[in-house]
Amino acid sequence: MTVIHGGNREKIAALIQRPATSLLDFSANINPLGVPQALKATLSAALTELSDYPNPEYPRLKSAIAKHHQVAATDIVVGNGAVQLIFDAALALHVQTAMVLAPCFGEYERALKKAGTQVTHFSLTRDDDFQLTGAQLIQALKDQPQVKLVCLGNPNNPTGTMLNDADLDQLVSYCRQQKIWVILDEAFMDLSLSPNEGWLPKLSPSDPVIVVRSLTKFFAIPGLRLGYAVTKNSALQQKMRDQSEPWSVNTVAARFGERAFEDRTYIQATQDWLQTEQPWLGKQLQEITFLHVFPSVTNYYLVYSSVPHLREKLWQVGILIRDCRDYVGLDAGYYRMAVKSHEANQELVQQLRVLE
Ligand SMILES: Cc1ncc(COP(=O)(O)O)c(C=O)c1O
Repeated sequence: MTVIHGGNREKIAALIQRPATSLLDFSANINPLGVPQALKATLSAALTELSDYPNPEYPRLKSAIAKHHQVAATDIVVGNGAVQLIFDAALALHVQTAMVLAPCFGEYERALKKAGTQVTHFSLTRDDDFQLTGAQLIQALKDQPQVKLVCLGNPNNPTGTMLNDADLDQLVSYCRQQKIWVILDEAFMDLSLSPNEGWLPKLSPSDPVIVVRSLTKFFAIPGLRLGYAVTKNSALQQKMRDQSEPWSVNTVAARFGERAFEDRTYIQATQDWLQTEQPWLGKQLQEITFLHVFPSVTNYYLVYSSVPHLREKLWQVGILIRDCRDYVGLDAGYYRMAVKSHEANQELVQQLRVLE
């Protein structure tokens, strides 16, 4: 299975023969506030340490994450982006059959297949706005008792939908009873309209759950890469330790992560931007006659366009959006658009209006 990610400005720039820097990229869901200014000194100071190996235990990084989420440092594994933790968790758990949503982030299936796991899909439907309920997923698990792992994005990519707390409680308690592992990918939790601690405060040693988080989207560092996973399940902690490679977080990323959560000004500014721009862009997109916009709680929208080849048409005006036809469960016509700065969002809306 090939997953064609968004955010590849360099490739599209070469294809359409425009400088990469002139393109407005709505195909990757990255905080438009950019790398926090206050952390740039931390980044450059870390360069002086490049001739030493990082401490493979990452005590300072884990302690910063532990303090931020009020969990124990021993419950944390750090990695080179959330995606590494997803691959490591799939390998560590190494079950025969797993279930993912369709559509969902394509790397879940790649990670599971690499671990030798068979993947079954639970289809979300357009009629339900791609919204999932805990009861539906539990029924699917009952129908397929061979499934021993569920890998779930909350919020889900590319739909921007989220399971409500009560449904997630119900799902995890079913999985606990039935000994089904859960990889809960909360990479977009802090970029949701009601950012909260997600499942982290509810983790317990009897939980079969590992929560995956990312700093790359919120702190706009996809080129630096930093993610972490948290579980209180001691068997799973041991499996993750056995699985993990040493030094998977580079020194610059580690030093960044040690300080990032202290930047309250940036965190507040991000939440302020999202609370204003996310609904603004959603409303504007809904007014475009050829688009159907699906409800989203996070910093991107899944849309369906009745104008064909929308991605290529927007390339002509220097705008990149994510074509979603490579997601299992979606086909031609579905696109994902990130919420960006107000100026960029205005430009997107204006260019879409031209196509009406
Ligand atoms: C749902 C989801 N989880 C995880 C990731 C990967 O995050 P990272 O860049 O931290 O590896 C992505 C990247 O697009 C994603 O969409």
